[in-house]
Amino acid sequence: MPPASAPSFCGPRELLRPGKSTGTLGPMHLVLATAAQKAQRDAVTHAAWGSPLTVAQFQGRELRLRSHPWCRAGMKTWLWVGDDGAVLSSCESFSNHSHLRAPDGTREAGESFSIASVYTEPHLRGHGHATRMMDAVAQELGRLSPRAHAAVLFSDVGAPLYRRSGYVESAAWDWTAPSEGAPPGRAERLGEHDVASALARLRVPDAPLVLWPSAAQLDWHLERERIYAELLERPRPQACGAVVGDSTALWCMMARYGELVLLMLDARSPADAEALLTEARRVAQGARLPRVVVWEEPGTAEVLAAVAGRVGLTRAARDGALPMTRPLHARLPVVEPVPFSRALWV
Ligand SMILES: CC(C)(COP(=O)(O)OP(=O)(O)OC[C@H]1O[C@@H](n2cnc3c(N)ncnc32)[C@H](O)[C@@H]1OP(=O)(O)O)[C@@H](O)C(=O)NCCC(=O)NCCS
Repeated sequence: MPPASAPSFCGPRELLRPGKSTGTLGPMHLVLATAAQKAQRDAVTHAAWGSPLTVAQFQGRELRLRSHPWCRAGMKTWLWVGDDGAVLSSCESFSNHSHLRAPDGTREAGESFSIASVYTEPHLRGHGHATRMMDAVAQELGRLSPRAHAAVLFSDVGAPLYRRSGYVESAAWDWTAPSEGAPPGRAERLGEHDVASALARLRVPDAPLVLWPSAAQLDWHLERERIYAELLERPRPQACGAVVGDSTALWCMMARYGELVLLMLDARSPADAEALLTEARRVAQGARLPRVVVWEEPGTAEVLAAVAGRVGLTRAARDGALPMTRPLHARLPVVEPVPFSRALWV
C-alpha cells in the first residue's frame, strides 16, 4: 500500500457545501457529492448493493430514499477524490440522536453518525483509499458537529478494515424463528401511523452511550419496505409492530431475504415477549416471509433466551452487519456496551 497522504481541511466549523472540497493542499481530499455525483455513484455501487434490481431501479431506490425526510435532515454522501478529481472511494453518513452519560449520571443529548455504503471500485482497491476516507470522514463529522458523540457502522466485511480507523466492534447475535405455525396471539397490531406513539412507549436502555432512532428514522425502514414491495411486486406485512400491556415491538420486511426483522423490542416480561414475537410470526407468515429475525441487545438477551423454546427462536452469530463504534467525543474512551437496535442499521 502506498504511504497515506494526509488530508487537508477547511477552516473551523466552515460548512462544506456539495461539490466543495475540504481542502486543496493534499493530493487526496474529501468532497460532499452533488446530486449529479450521487446519481453517478449509484450506478457504480449497484454492483455491490443493487441485486436483484436493475441499475435504473437501484438509482430510483436511492433517489427515493435520499428524498425521505430522515435523509433530507441528516444524510451526506462523501467522496474521497484524487487531485485529478477522480472518485477513489465513497460513503454516506446519517445523523442520529444520541445520549451520553456524564460522570454525575445526567444525560447529555448530542449527535452520532452512522456510516454506510463504503465503496471503492474493484480496480482501485487495496491502496488504502477506504481507510483514509473513513479517517477523514470521522475527523470532518467531529469537526462540523460540536455535539458529536460517536460514529457507528455495520460492517459486512468484518472488523479489521474499520479497526484501522478507530472503530471497535460489538457482539452481534441474532435470534431467528420460523414464521410458520404460530398460534393466535393476544398482542394488538400497530400500523404506520402508530410508529411515533409506539416509539414514545419504549424504554431507553441504560448504557453509557445510547443512539436513539427518531420516528422519521423508523419510517425510513418502512420506506425501504414500500420500495421493495413495489419493485418486487410482493405484499407488504399487514402491521409494522404490536403492543401488549406496556410492551412494544416494531418491525419491517426485508423482502430480498424473506425476513421480518424486529427494529425495536421492549418486552417487559417473558409472557409479553412471547405475545409480541408470536404476532410478528403471524404477520410474517401473512406476508409470505419465512422467518422472523431479532437482533440481540444487552437489554433483550435474557427475555429472548427465556422464550426461545416456546417461540421457536434459535441464536446464531450474525452474518454481516457487525456493529462498530468510533468515539468522536473526548469523554468517550470506552463505548462498550452500546445497545444496537436493528432500527439503527443503515
Ligand atoms: C471494502 C472496500 C470498501 C475496501 O476498499 P479499499 O479502498 O480497497 O480499502 P483499503 O485499501 O483501505 O483496505 C483494504 C483492506 O480491506 C480488506 N477487505 C476488502 N474487502 C473485504 C472483504 N470482503 N472482507 C474482508 N476484508 C476485506 C482487504 O482485505 C484489505 O485488507 P489488507 O490491507 O489487510 O489486505 C472495497 O473492497 C469495496 O468497495 N468492497 C465492496 C463493497 C463493500 O463490501 N463495502 C463494505 C461494506 S461494510
